[in-house]
Amino acid sequence: MTERNWRVSNPGGSLRVVVTKELPGARWLQLLGAADCRVEIAEGADILGEAEIRAAIGDSCDAAIGQLTEAWSAEMLAALAAAGAAVYSNYAVGYNNVDVAAATRLGLPVGNTPGVLTETTAQLAVALTFTTARRIAEGDRYMRAGRFAGWLPTLLQGELLWRKTLGIVGAGRIGVAYARMMIEGHKMDVVYYDVRANEDFERFVADYAAFLEAHGEPPVTCRRAATLEELLGAADVVSIHTVLDESTRHIIGAPELMAMKETAVLVNSSRGPLVDEGALVEHCRANPGFRAGLDVYEDEPAMKPGLAQLDNVVVVPHLGSATSWTREGMATLAAANAAAVLQGWPVWPRAATLEDVLPFLGGDEPPHAAPSIVNADDLGLPRVAAPGSLEEGAP
Ligand code: DGY
Repeated sequence: MTERNWRVSNPGGSLRVVVTKELPGARWLQLLGAADCRVEIAEGADILGEAEIRAAIGDSCDAAIGQLTEAWSAEMLAALAAAGAAVYSNYAVGYNNVDVAAATRLGLPVGNTPGVLTETTAQLAVALTFTTARRIAEGDRYMRAGRFAGWLPTLLQGELLWRKTLGIVGAGRIGVAYARMMIEGHKMDVVYYDVRANEDFERFVADYAAFLEAHGEPPVTCRRAATLEELLGAADVVSIHTVLDESTRHIIGAPELMAMKETAVLVNSSRGPLVDEGALVEHCRANPGFRAGLDVYEDEPAMKPGLAQLDNVVVVPHLGSATSWTREGMATLAAANAAAVLQGWPVWPRAATLEDVLPFLGGDEPPHAAPSIVNADDLGLPRVAAPGSLEEGAP
C-alpha cells in the first residue's frame, strides 16, 4: 500500500472525522468545524480499499464519511463502531454499498443525501436517452474522424421519440422526475413498473393530459404495468430507476432484452448490476437497431468485454449527479448528517424532495438536525416534529 496524504481541516477539533475522498465546496467543512471536528480527508483519485480505510479509522474515530465506491460491510462498520464512532455518513443517496442491517445492529446511524440529486440525475438520463436514440456520440466520433463529406439523406438516422411510449422501471423520485421531463418535453405516453402504485404520478399525467386537450392537442396516457414483460413489450424507451437489492439484481437480463422492441433504447442511470451487462453486450451485438445508454456498470469501474466496441451503446462514467451544485449539496448533507449525530441532534422529519432539504443548503444557521438517517426509525432516533418547530427555537 503506498503512503497516502491526508489533508487535515480544523486540526484543533476534539472529534475525529475520517473522510475517504475530498468533497467539493466549503460549507461541509464549516459544518464539521462548527461541531468541533478535526476532519481528516484522504487525498488522491484512487479508491481506498478496506485495509486502508480500517487503518485510517484506527482505534479512535468519531465519524466517517464514505463513498458509494467502498463496501461498508458488517466488518467495516464493526471496526468503525469499535473505534467509538457515533455515525457513518454515505456521500450518496443510494446506500447499496452499506450493510444497513449490520449498522442498525451496532446502533450506528447511517446517513445519505437525498433531494439534491433528483433533477440532476433525471437530466443525465434524458441526455443519455437522446444521445443514444439520436446517435450523438457516433456523430461526434464521425466528425472528429474527418468523415463528414456533406449532408446525406441517410446519414446516422436515429429514433424519433416524440409521442412514443416511455417505460419506467421504478417510479420513485428520480424515475418520476425523468418521466416528467420526457412526457412534458416529448409528449410520450408512459407505462411504469413498480411494486407500489404511484398515484401522485398517475394524477399528474392525467392532469397534464387534460391540459393538452384543453389546448387542442392529443392527450398523453399513463398506466402501471402488471408485469415487467408487459412494459418491455410496449416501450420504445426503457429507463431503469429502481434500487439495487437482491430482488432487482439483473432485473434486465437476456430474456428481458429479448422481450423489448428491436429498436428500443435502454437507459441505466441507477446501478450497474440491475442489468446483466454480458447479456446486453450479446444483445446489442446481435441487434444493431437496439441501443443502450449507460451511466453505471455491473463491475464498475470496469466494463464487460466488448461493450466499449459497440457503436449502438453510449457509455459515460457514473455522471448522474455530476453538477457542482448537486455535488456540493451532497457534501453539505453528508457533513450535516455526521455533525448532527455527533451533537446529539434529532433527525429531520422528511428528506424526500429538494424543498425538504433546502434549509440545510444555505443560510448561516442550518437546522439543528440530521437531514437524512436511513435507519433512524429502526434505531428509534427522535425526529423533529416539523421544520417550523426548529425555527421557533429548538436545540
Ligand atoms: C448516488 O448518490 O447514489 C449516485 O449514484 C451518485 O451519483
